[in-house]
Amino acid sequence: MIHFKLLGAALLLASLFCLTLAGNFDDSSCESSEEYGGGKHKHRHHKHRPKPPRPPPRPHARPKCEQGWYTSYRPQGIWCLRVGIGKLDYHQSQAQCKTYGGVLSGLQNNFERQLIANETVRQLLPTGVTIAGVWLGASKVPGTNTFKWNDGHTTGTGGMFYGPEQPDNAKGDPRGPQNCLQLIVMTPAYWSHPDKWVPFVRLIDDYWCHMTHDPPQRLYASPRPRATCESGWLTSYRPQGLWCLKIGIGKLDYNQSQAQCETQGGVLSRIQNDLERQLIANETIRQLIPIGVTIAGVWLGASKVPGTNTFQWNDGHTTGTGGMFFGPGQPDNALRDPRGPQNCLQLIVMTPAFYSRPDKWITFPQLIDDYWCHMTHDPPQRLYACGKPGPVDNMVG
Ligand SMILES: *[C@@H]1O[C@H](CO)[C@@H](O)[C@H](O)[C@H]1NC(C)=O
Ligand SMILES: *[C@@H]1O[C@H](CO)[C@@H](O)[C@H](O)[C@H]1NC(C)=O
Ligand SMILES: *[C@@H]1O[C@H](CO)[C@@H](O)[C@H](O)[C@H]1NC(C)=O
Repeated sequence: MIHFKLLGAALLLASLFCLTLAGNFDDSSCESSEEYGGGKHKHRHHKHRPKPPRPPPRPHARPKCEQGWYTSYRPQGIWCLRVGIGKLDYHQSQAQCKTYGGVLSGLQNNFERQLIANETVRQLLPTGVTIAGVWLGASKVPGTNTFKWNDGHTTGTGGMFYGPEQPDNAKGDPRGPQNCLQLIVMTPAYWSHPDKWVPFVRLIDDYWCHMTHDPPQRLYASPRPRATCESGWLTSYRPQGLWCLKIGIGKLDYNQSQAQCETQGGVLSRIQNDLERQLIANETIRQLIPIGVTIAGVWLGASKVPGTNTFQWNDGHTTGTGGMFFGPGQPDNALRDPRGPQNCLQLIVMTPAFYSRPDKWITFPQLIDDYWCHMTHDPPQRLYACGKPGPVDNMVG
């Protein structure tokens, strides 16, 4: 017993599980990344073909967390995790996670529970300690004895793997309510000297937030969310880096819209791919619905290839023509209308309500039309898509 306590004290280490935004960690311990589809298998489309030409796994298909972090593919996006060690209580663990730019992590699912438990065991083995408590990012729902994840990313209760009869709030123990959660993790050697924690293998216990002695070895779960654009901008993960998008509204022509974007450090945005088109269209719809407007034209940044009737994205960031989703017969240059050439592009966006009173734009749902740069009345509701490069992506691949 004394031996055990000494060991715990000598280590003076608690392990924490944090959520972080910054910092470079070089310990190869966290290199492994696991393919995970939130419990559902994403690779259903295997045809029944003969075995031999086994398609290689798609190692480059999805980005993963940079070195030093484990990757979890949550339904709501990539989540990067690491486990810290140190004799810290819940609040000290939160503070430690903050130095990585984040907060303590919740558990989204069984994969993350096993990932964190495995990493905890890996860190315990060389110390000879056989059991530890890992702080998780959760807080009590006020007025109840239930918990919710509080890292701003983990959702649902699918990761709430409680030990038997937990959370029990210490059965009204005079030391007060247990408002925090720890994951109990044992190494294989634990089983030669098991203790009262036996029924809690890799399960969650509610615990006093300021206590650090039961079990005495402490760790914490630290996450690191993927880089995103600053608040107020939508994030597009282009192959060439993050691109931030913001949709402005106002009866502005192309040049005025360009000037508006410039005041925000951007330019009129081009469209890289279908996902970006959807981002722009969805955000436009979100702005149209409350004002009762059902259709709008959104200025995009592009210019005509001189001497032709084709357009090019010209911001130095958008590449290719994969985002040129033209409406039928476009660009048509207004069929040589006397009002002159149509040298600009607008994305036509309809809300669902448009279809109860459709008009001539019916064949242009979320598609691009060439248009006169100085005109603002067709459709009369005008918006503009600004774009600018985002922060450096913290994922690789
Ligand atoms: C955890 O470790 C076990 C045993 O080594 C292994 O089978 C499992 O795949 C690991 N799980 C994760 C999520 O790392
Ligand atoms: C845009 O909205 C549609 C319909 O709600 C949705 O299916 C799609 O996933 C959204 N796309 C993006 C990129 O947000
Ligand atoms: C828009 O700006 C360009 C370049 O500054 C200028 O040549 C053009 O005349 C302007 N067009 C309108 C309609 O203001």
